[in-house]
Amino acid sequence: MLRLSKLAMVCWGTAALLAFSGVSFAGDAPVTANILNGKKIFENGKPDAGVTACNTCHGDKAMGNDDMGTPRLANIGYVYVIKQLTNFADDKRTPAGLGAVMNGFAKSLTEQERRDISAYVNTLPKSSERSDLAALKTAGTPVGESYKGKILVRYGVENKVSACQSCHGFDGRGADPVYPKIGQQKFVYLTNQLKNWRDGSRANDPAGQMRAIAKNLTDDDINNAAGYLSQAEDSTPGDSLEVDNETVMKNVKLIK
Ligand code: HEC
Ligand code: HEC
Repeated sequence: MLRLSKLAMVCWGTAALLAFSGVSFAGDAPVTANILNGKKIFENGKPDAGVTACNTCHGDKAMGNDDMGTPRLANIGYVYVIKQLTNFADDKRTPAGLGAVMNGFAKSLTEQERRDISAYVNTLPKSSERSDLAALKTAGTPVGESYKGKILVRYGVENKVSACQSCHGFDGRGADPVYPKIGQQKFVYLTNQLKNWRDGSRANDPAGQMRAIAKNLTDDDINNAAGYLSQAEDSTPGDSLEVDNETVMKNVKLIK
């Protein structure tokens, strides 16, 4: 219930998006998601519509890739992935660089296909291929100091930055449906997003929550937090804080 009350405080057309993602309100027909169709698009794209196979950039298991700056999509949150695809389609999120392809791709996916893909990436293995920080460091990328990142993630900075885990869950494991999993996300992607929020070039966060956080982060804070989060331990099943990022998906009728 804690998460639902947080949810009520943020507004991003929440009711409409949740209904569309699969929270059924009284009288609504159940929402469906076709995992096999999601897999098909993820692995083959939609050649006739100019959509490249998602796995070319996001990886076969949707674990993301530091060289390309692509994010992990597997198990980061079913509703969150749909929200991002919807935001790309509506040009509410317009990445620079390689990610600029996402707007055109998302426009060429129907709402049903976005649900199908999002449901599919949630079925992939949870085990993580973590960023290789040593290799990044050798290549000249500053990877921060993990123990300082841990403090930021768990406690924040007094009177300045809220603890990341107050919204994203313990070690960034995610708090579905609003807060994506950021633990075990790719390092390069994490630093890119935090910088994008700091300079306002990404502004699709509900109620400006991430822009408010990022504006108080230094480059070192960003590297430290990303260094720690990218290597986060697996979360512990049975822990009362455990969130499986599938609260909404449980209401979705899956076609397998
Ligand atoms: C040419 C490479 C490429 C392909 C192909 C591609 N993506 Fe992406 N995608 C990216 C990049 C790069 C980003 C990061 C954008 C940014 O930095 O904001 C991204 C971001 C995303 C995000 C945002 C995730 C988050 O954590 O917020 C989603 C969702 C996504 N892609 C889904 C897809 C799907 C679904 C497909 C296939 C239909 C696909 N992508 C194909 C490069 C690609
Ligand atoms: C007040 C709540 C709140 C706090 C505290 C918070 N976040 Fe977020 N964060 C969000 C929300 C909401 C989103 C989803 C934005 C959207 O819907 O596009 C998000 C998204 C993100 C993303 C994007 C993930 C992706 O896949 O694209 C990153 C990275 C992130 N947060 C990092 C952090 C870090 C690091 C901290 C701590 C320094 C932090 N957040 C603290 C609310 C919060």
